Amino acid sequence: MNTSVSIIGAGRLATHLAAALAGKGIIIPQIFSRQLSKAAILAQKVNAEAINDLKAVNDKSDFYIIAVSDDAIYEVAHQLQHVISSDKLVVHTSGAAPSTLLVPFFRNYGVFYPLQSFSLDKAVDFRHVPIGVYSPISQNEKLLFSLGSLISQQVQCIDDHQRAELHLAAVFVNNFTNYLFHIGHDITNKANLPFSLLMPLIQQTVEKIKLSPPVDMQTGPARRGDHSTIQRHLSQLEVEDYKSLYELITKQILQLYHKK
Ligand SMILES: NC(=O)c1ccc[n+]([C@@H]2O[C@H](COP(=O)([O-])OP(=O)(O)OC[C@H]3O[C@@H](n4cnc5c(N)ncnc54)[C@H](OP(=O)(O)O)[C@@H]3O)[C@@H](O)[C@H]2O)c1
Repeated sequence: MNTSVSIIGAGRLATHLAAALAGKGIIIPQIFSRQLSKAAILAQKVNAEAINDLKAVNDKSDFYIIAVSDDAIYEVAHQLQHVISSDKLVVHTSGAAPSTLLVPFFRNYGVFYPLQSFSLDKAVDFRHVPIGVYSPISQNEKLLFSLGSLISQQVQCIDDHQRAELHLAAVFVNNFTNYLFHIGHDITNKANLPFSLLMPLIQQTVEKIKLSPPVDMQTGPARRGDHSTIQRHLSQLEVEDYKSLYELITKQILQLYHKK
């Protein structure tokens, strides 16, 4: 497959995606970043040309992947329309932004959304990263599906509404959970205990929800209705925001399992 994919962006997602595509023999002609040095670091890894001017994007690629901050997608697409033809297949990679952001500029638009939390210093095995693809034109959706299938074992067609919901769910299970880990870290730290003591518990929590829905796996004082323990915890909490979170989540769990 002699496919070429130009990547607009050199951030966290672009870095992992470009490497995964190049690893499967996809040609990456160009990497764009506003900072040439940043584009160059990624371009060197995937044997691409580094550019820092959107006017230098060439018109020869089969796919254009806009992997920039959500707020910049519209502006980048706006500039890109002047340098590549309007029938090129152009996608963004956002979970939250609608595909229709690209409508004013390109007929063949879509989304290529890898659902994972990407960091520059953590390797990712893209085979296990679900990819949601979307295009209103089925032929384009098939092309995006094929591209995704080269690097991932879990590619799915997901429309704009579903993707927005999926992204919302991802914020709860990843971003908010991570913030709760931070609170746990803060509490153990202040008690001169290593956070690593909680690691088997964290791992077990994730293992258990692979077996049954989370609602079946809830444990803890609110699940049991142990009000004296809940009061003790509340009196231990010194940070007001942690206390508010504890109260809110405890209330939700009590309502779920102890409806009168
Ligand atoms: N990271 C994730 O876990 C993840 C997962 C799934 C989807 N996504 C999506 O992937 C996209 C990129 O996210 P990311 O995490 O890779 O972001 P990131 O690491 O913060 O990188 C953002 C990229 O956007 C570029 N950019 C920002 N403002 C720009 C502007 N006005 N004009 C041109 N370029 C601009 C930056 O350019 P410079 O290089 O010039 O600074 C950088 O290359 C987003 O749509 C995000 O929702 C991210």
